[in-house]
Amino acid sequence: MNKYDYIIRLENEKDYREVENLAREAFWNLSVPGCTEHYFIHMMRDHEDFIPELDYVLEMDGKIVGCVMYCKGKLVDEQGNTKEILTMGPLCVLPEYQRKGFGKALLEHTFALAEKMGYDTVINFGNPDNYVARGYKSCKKYNVCFEGDIFPAALLVKVLKEDALDGRKWFYHQCDADKCCEDEEAVERFDAEFPPKEKAWQPSQEEFYIHSHSAITW
Ligand SMILES: CC(C)(COP(=O)(O)OP(=O)(O)OC[C@H]1O[C@@H](n2cnc3c(N)ncnc32)[C@H](O)[C@@H]1OP(=O)(O)O)[C@@H](O)C(=O)NCCC(=O)NCCS
Repeated sequence: MNKYDYIIRLENEKDYREVENLAREAFWNLSVPGCTEHYFIHMMRDHEDFIPELDYVLEMDGKIVGCVMYCKGKLVDEQGNTKEILTMGPLCVLPEYQRKGFGKALLEHTFALAEKMGYDTVINFGNPDNYVARGYKSCKKYNVCFEGDIFPAALLVKVLKEDALDGRKWFYHQCDADKCCEDEEAVERFDAEFPPKEKAWQPSQEEFYIHSHSAITW
């Protein structure tokens, strides 16, 4: 994609508020009225599992229009063997720049780097529509689940190396960086630092409910 002149570079401290605002714009009213992702990003940069080497922004004409971040996660098999993997997210692009290939560019750039860093598996929750074209597959296809043998429909797995997962059952333990978002007052306090924005219902919230409450059972 060369029709746009952009650079993909590491996020730096001066970008923090611009990136948080970008996340707020991208996620606002998408999954719930309002959103928590800007607070999540704000807090996750200090989390022990956050990976600064994979914290990238996409910049066009001096403006940051997209970002992607990763944390360390792990898979544990039934014998207790552990495998370090990546949990991807948030990934977001400013609404007026969406569906032009920028999300794809951010993922492909960071997947290549992650592979060089020695990672072979990326996992995230998400709407499959956004990820299957990037080679993500259902967690069920790789036998990756939650304790209790739950295979969430929105749990998506991308292998960076073909033989990364060998068919044995793996239990996914995600990084707990998003726990901070359960503190609704803290989210509200943080959100008040940004320009006012109206919380509202929109159909994507029902889509999110369906995806996030579904599991693959056969
Ligand atoms: C999801 C998001 C990051 C994708 O980034 P993007 O720059 O808009 O997406 P891209 O243009 O790179 O397209 C990525 C894929 O989306 C799908 N897509 C693209 N245009 C589409 C359209 N008009 N309709 C449906 N799907 C489309 C395709 O699968 C595409 O891959 P392909 O072009 O290789 O086939 C971005 O839309 C976004 O920030 N959305 C709001 C926040 C969000 O949902 N983040 C993800 C959390 S799960």
